[in-house]
Amino acid sequence: MHKKLQNFISKNQPVIENELNHLLANLNVSETLKSSMSYSINAGGKRIRPLLVLATLEDLDVQSADALTVACAVELIHTYSLIHDDLPCMDDDDYRRGKLTNHKVYGEGVAVLAGDALQTLAFEALTTLQETSSKDALQLVKMLASASGAMGMVGGQMLDIEGEARPLSLMELETVHVNKTGALLSFCIEAGAVMAGLEVEKAANLNVFAWNIGLAFQIQDDILDITSTTEALGKTAGSDISSDKSTYPSLLGLEGARKRLAEHHRLAEESLDFLGKEEPLLKLFADYIVNRQS
Ligand code: IPE
Ligand code: IPE
Ligand code: MG
Ligand code: MG
Ligand code: MG
Repeated sequence: MHKKLQNFISKNQPVIENELNHLLANLNVSETLKSSMSYSINAGGKRIRPLLVLATLEDLDVQSADALTVACAVELIHTYSLIHDDLPCMDDDDYRRGKLTNHKVYGEGVAVLAGDALQTLAFEALTTLQETSSKDALQLVKMLASASGAMGMVGGQMLDIEGEARPLSLMELETVHVNKTGALLSFCIEAGAVMAGLEVEKAANLNVFAWNIGLAFQIQDDILDITSTTEALGKTAGSDISSDKSTYPSLLGLEGARKRLAEHHRLAEESLDFLGKEEPLLKLFADYIVNRQS
């Protein structure tokens, strides 16, 4: 990994984890529910989404005390989505982030509730923004709700289930990926642009970046599912094949999927020219996302 990105991650990851635990510590609820929420939050995720929120603001040379709250909100949503994604009625996976999945430890009922509670906690956190105007804060709530709901991640997960019963076309599969994974990743970058008060034309470039890395992220996820191991991934390798999922490699072959990945990588990088920076953090993130091995 590039040294500049490595330094950025080493500096910000502990700050994000501290804030996530602070949000959980304030909950006065059943110890089992709290323990289940904390189990998945602290299972060792890469924190790519919250880091992307912070990196976007850094590339735009803007500081906001609210960035950390928004960053944590999206990680709460992401973690909820993984708990539910792993359930027996969904992908039925036993390992996540190098540990047993939430329902394997706490049972399905608690796992469903932990996911629900993480989701609502995300929106509660967004009501505590300090520096952002009420108008922008409301906009962020709307953006996060759309990115995670029926028109975003949940909608993508629905199409993903439908894709188990029949092979999807490439266009349909792109819709799955853009929604189930891309929408939340796009939120991270677009939220950074809102907090930075970025003008519309520049924000449009960032949207192109976000769309391309969102898609690239899930293509690499599909590739790793067949080329990597459970040990390296921290989640069950080969899960897509055993559930007959339509994926980029299943439709295009491994080489075809890699070509698509490279194309989205290129388009993402090009879209950052407007920043006029030698080495934007977002470019380094794009390199990391397409080359990541876990
Ligand atoms: C996994 O996301 C789920 C997908 C959207 C493919 P990550 O690879 O970011 O998972 P963690 O958060 O690091 O565990
Ligand atoms: C899930 O995609 C994306 C989510 C919304 C959770 P996958 O089902 O491919 O994610 P993994 O491979 O289990 O992490
Ligand atoms: Mg899934
Ligand atoms: Mg899955
Ligand atoms: Mg996957």
